[in-house]
Amino acid sequence: MQSAEQHPSHSSSISSNPDTNKKSNNLSILLELLQFIKPYKAKVIAALVALIFTASLTLTVGHGVRILIDQGFAQASLQQLGEAIRFIVLITILISIGTFFRFYLVSSVGERVSADIRLSVFNHVITLHPSYFETNGSGDIMSRITTDTTLLQSIIGSSFSMAMRSALMCIGAIIMLFATNIKLTLIVLASVPFILVPILVYGRRVRALSRKSQDSMSDVGSYAGEAIEHIKTVQSYSYEHQERVSFSEEVEKAYEIGRQRVKQRAILIAGVIAIVFCAISGMLWVGGSDVINGNMSAGDLGAFVFYAIMVASSLATISEVLGELQRAAGATERLIEILQVESEITSPLQTTSTSNLAAEVSFHDVDFHYPSRPGQSAISQLNLTAHEGKVLALVGPSGAGKTTLFELLQRFYDPQSGSVTLGGVDIREFEPQHLRQQMALVPQQPALFSHDVFHNIRYGNPDATDEQVIEAAKKAHAHEFITQLPEGYQSFLGERGVRLSGGQRQRIAIARAILKDPQILLLDEATSALDSESEHHVQQALDELMQGRTTIIIAHRLSTIQHADQIAVLENGRVVDVGNHTSLLLSSKLYKRLVDLQFKHLES
Ligand SMILES: Nc1ncnc2c1ncn2[C@@H]1O[C@H](COP(=O)(O)OP(=O)(O)OP(=O)(O)O)[C@@H](O)[C@H]1O
Ligand SMILES: [Mg+2]
Repeated sequence: MQSAEQHPSHSSSISSNPDTNKKSNNLSILLELLQFIKPYKAKVIAALVALIFTASLTLTVGHGVRILIDQGFAQASLQQLGEAIRFIVLITILISIGTFFRFYLVSSVGERVSADIRLSVFNHVITLHPSYFETNGSGDIMSRITTDTTLLQSIIGSSFSMAMRSALMCIGAIIMLFATNIKLTLIVLASVPFILVPILVYGRRVRALSRKSQDSMSDVGSYAGEAIEHIKTVQSYSYEHQERVSFSEEVEKAYEIGRQRVKQRAILIAGVIAIVFCAISGMLWVGGSDVINGNMSAGDLGAFVFYAIMVASSLATISEVLGELQRAAGATERLIEILQVESEITSPLQTTSTSNLAAEVSFHDVDFHYPSRPGQSAISQLNLTAHEGKVLALVGPSGAGKTTLFELLQRFYDPQSGSVTLGGVDIREFEPQHLRQQMALVPQQPALFSHDVFHNIRYGNPDATDEQVIEAAKKAHAHEFITQLPEGYQSFLGERGVRLSGGQRQRIAIARAILKDPQILLLDEATSALDSESEHHVQQALDELMQGRTTIIIAHRLSTIQHADQIAVLENGRVVDVGNHTSLLLSSKLYKRLVDLQFKHLES
């Protein structure tokens, strides 16, 4: 049986939340899984039939044992012995065929259902509003999509069918026990509470420890993940030793919890074995005396022992599976939780078409604070217009709210009051996807995917041909360096594009925007100073891109500012001045200061 305990899961943030823990003890949440199982009803019913078939056949083996002993051995008849053996072999073959179908059907439904859940969680998550991801870490969401669904897969695919089989067998075996010998059955049943008590007590401890051990495994995983991600920082500060020490503390903690869990389990198993075998010995003593006194046939006793062992092993399985089901309930809950989140950025009932609209964007009295910082406004009472085909530059100190304006324009957030319009229409009246199709963003830190160059540029337009991609790269002044990469356009760029320089990454992002060919261009210049060679390249690429489009550019480089038709100076989320380079030099102290600083920087 597969267990998610072996996987590092990032569940620490989840289980540190006491509410989730409390709720996950409630098994009824598992009913939510029915909607995912429903499409495979036929398979489930077939599996149930196979299950009942094998369970009842297994029970008849007890009858075979009785014939074997009473008629084969007791009457020393070779012919009867052969018959009994043939009976048992036949039943065994039928059981194995039934088991094949039961196992295959149930496990494949388990695989399918967990794949479906994974798909529907991802399909849902990818549409959620960005602020959701500010309060819910990506590690947490990832662990729900991978670890929690894997846990469900193993539970739907095996534990659940084991529980069903054991329950059926247990009931069937108890009935057979009564049918065979009532007195002995009562002895067996009397020992059940002695088995249940330790299972319940220790089972609970084991469960608590297994949750703790999962948490600490997830700490180990995230600790290693972070150190590896920032490996250059670790090494450049010669922090390897400290990292080793801290990591080994995490590992030892996880080991200690794991050891305790295993110890509890070992005690439980030893205790159950002792009690079960004592009970069986007691029963053999009573039953054996009955056989010797002639009150009972040896075959009956044999069959009885067979059924008693069956009851004991089914009970053991059920008790183990119950713990698994508890964990499945927790996993299900975490998945359902995500599925129930509704996106805060929704399309209106009646959408307006984006075609034939002027490529002009305006902010009207916009007030906005980020949802995670309700007390601190990022934009206040802001009015600003970018005219069609013109270049609007935004300047201002760090944290002034420049990037925030781009986020509002793309409707990643809605302002708390005021409105943003495109061609005079409130952007909330468009389908968000259509709105975003009108714009292309070249961000401060370009996001590249761990794929090749083709894939990364084609992100601007999935239907573009290779020739179109190369054309865009040429316009972005990226063609030259791309052809020098080991495999040209097929070169793999590494995670987040680590195999490229900052300037190269930006030009890939520009090529992507060129390929998208939008009406409105949003450029967020990187603050990191590019050397003059690559600045020259990037600037040329941008000039190419800006032609004939409405452009809003967050400018850090003077060269860009001077070209702009209009410059807005921002400070603390407000527009403090609007004009062009020459007029602002006279009218705006802040602008003059920013320009002076940059000249000083360039001279030094
Ligand atoms: N996702 C976020 N959640 C909460 N606050 C945020 C978030 N993003 C930005 N802020 C805050 O909003 C304010 C404006 O940030 P913004 O990114 O718009 O600044 P900026 O003008 O682009 O600065 P820079 O020139 O450094 O890029 C800052 O005070 C910042 O701390
Ligand atoms: Mg910014």
